[in-house]
Amino acid sequence: MTDPLHSVVVPLLYLLSAVLFIFGLKGLTGVRTAQRGNLLAALAMLLAVVTTLIDLGIVDYRWIAGGLIVGGAVGAIAALKVEMTAMPQMVALFNGFGGGASALVAGSILWGQILEPGQTGTAAALLGADSALTAFLSILIGAVTLSGSLIAFLKLQGTISGQPVLLPARHVINSLFALGCLAAGVYLAFFATATGELALVAIVLGVASLLLGILFVIPVGGADMPVIISFLNSLSGVAASMTGFVLGNNLLIISGALVGASGLILTQIMCVAMNRSLANVFFSGFGGETAAADSGEYTNVRSYSPEEAAMVLETAESVVMVPGYGLAVAQAQHIARELGDLLEKRGAKVTYAIHPVAGRMPGHMNVLLAEADVDYEKLVEMDAINPEFRTTDAVLVVGANDVVNPAAENEPGSPIAGMPVLQVYNARTVMVIKRSLSPGFAGIKNSLFENDNTMMVFGDAKKILQELVNEVKSITAAA
Ligand code: TAP
Repeated sequence: MTDPLHSVVVPLLYLLSAVLFIFGLKGLTGVRTAQRGNLLAALAMLLAVVTTLIDLGIVDYRWIAGGLIVGGAVGAIAALKVEMTAMPQMVALFNGFGGGASALVAGSILWGQILEPGQTGTAAALLGADSALTAFLSILIGAVTLSGSLIAFLKLQGTISGQPVLLPARHVINSLFALGCLAAGVYLAFFATATGELALVAIVLGVASLLLGILFVIPVGGADMPVIISFLNSLSGVAASMTGFVLGNNLLIISGALVGASGLILTQIMCVAMNRSLANVFFSGFGGETAAADSGEYTNVRSYSPEEAAMVLETAESVVMVPGYGLAVAQAQHIARELGDLLEKRGAKVTYAIHPVAGRMPGHMNVLLAEADVDYEKLVEMDAINPEFRTTDAVLVVGANDVVNPAAENEPGSPIAGMPVLQVYNARTVMVIKRSLSPGFAGIKNSLFENDNTMMVFGDAKKILQELVNEVKSITAAA
């Protein structure tokens, strides 16, 4: 007679968990529903862990409790302490640990089922060809994800240089390493007999895969890291899915596939928004902290004081704020909202234009503005706001550069040619707050700064916005 716990209850609980993961992911697609989505996914994970413990009949919970307490405490402290601008590094670490965990589980299966009992025969003969193959893929992809994510973390953290490291003949070296890993994996699964040979090949595969991850990420510039992190996130899902096959665990297969697919979709969205191909991100060596290229000479740039800018804002009936990377650097989101609220109180319509790749991580501006409690209703996506600029009195560009650069539309040879941009130049007046005429991420000149309707207000975003707030307050008080 079949045991109803294992044949009915466990699969049902796994199914419920998978459904919760899917609803969680759906929730994460919208700012308003993201928090609920996160909670649903966390609940799904808890259910998955508990179900697995029941399924495997694990009664000694000491190691598990220890792991939960230590891991949970480290995760909670890190999540509480991390700055919003350091979120990409944190995600990189999580991805890396996910990949590493998958590789270790696959390795432990090889160890526990073949090496320790001292069985003889190939992994394919002893575990089945599918399990042997997925175990090798899990070790390969998991180890690449771990070391690649650690390099991404170190680059973003500034511990190592964010500049692309371009080894001579790197494409040949990387291809040889990738082929070597595949060959070692196939040998591990189908040819090595279950002795010291199998252990040796597994170790060689693990070490070579770790090196491959490093080689794969070092040529990418620090500023392109978010795209790589999203891709590594996808790989961590694929590694988990492979481990699911090794363990015969449907939930791990499904949840890994969900992470793999969503990470890939996000990578694609980021590439499209930057008008770059994934291959260009991986192989061009673009995206160093001080991207090369020609930042150009400027003529006809007009610099204004915060006092003069405030006089324009005073009469504006519609104001669109355009936040960019500089707003994040200056941590000026709270003061930006305060200015927006003040102008609204004076009767202006204030909205915030969101470019999909403004800043340095997906949803960067949404997160910053949410942190400052800006109402979601006031956030307008690029496609919806672009037609509105023609009837906008004043646009306040705060620390944004590439995402408002008309070169994307009118200079076919530009590195950002074809990238959709916010058409702020159509507004009556454009005020740009930044510290200098330095270029943004793409390292190119921005002709917006020379337009007749552009007012440059030079200085740190937080400081200038504070001065604007003071000016608007004193204008209001004097009225
Ligand atoms: P950027 O084009 O990088 O420009 C940011 C500007 O902020 C700089 O020109 C800088 O000028 C200014 N700035 C820096 N610190 C400041 C401060 N304290 N106060 C005031 N201004 C400051 O930013 P963007 O317009 O947001 O565009 C994002 C770029 O990053 C795009 O090229 C995009 O493709 C790329 N990218 C985005 C992502 C994601 S997912 N968002 C991922 C990878 C790459 P000064 O030095 O003169 O102040």
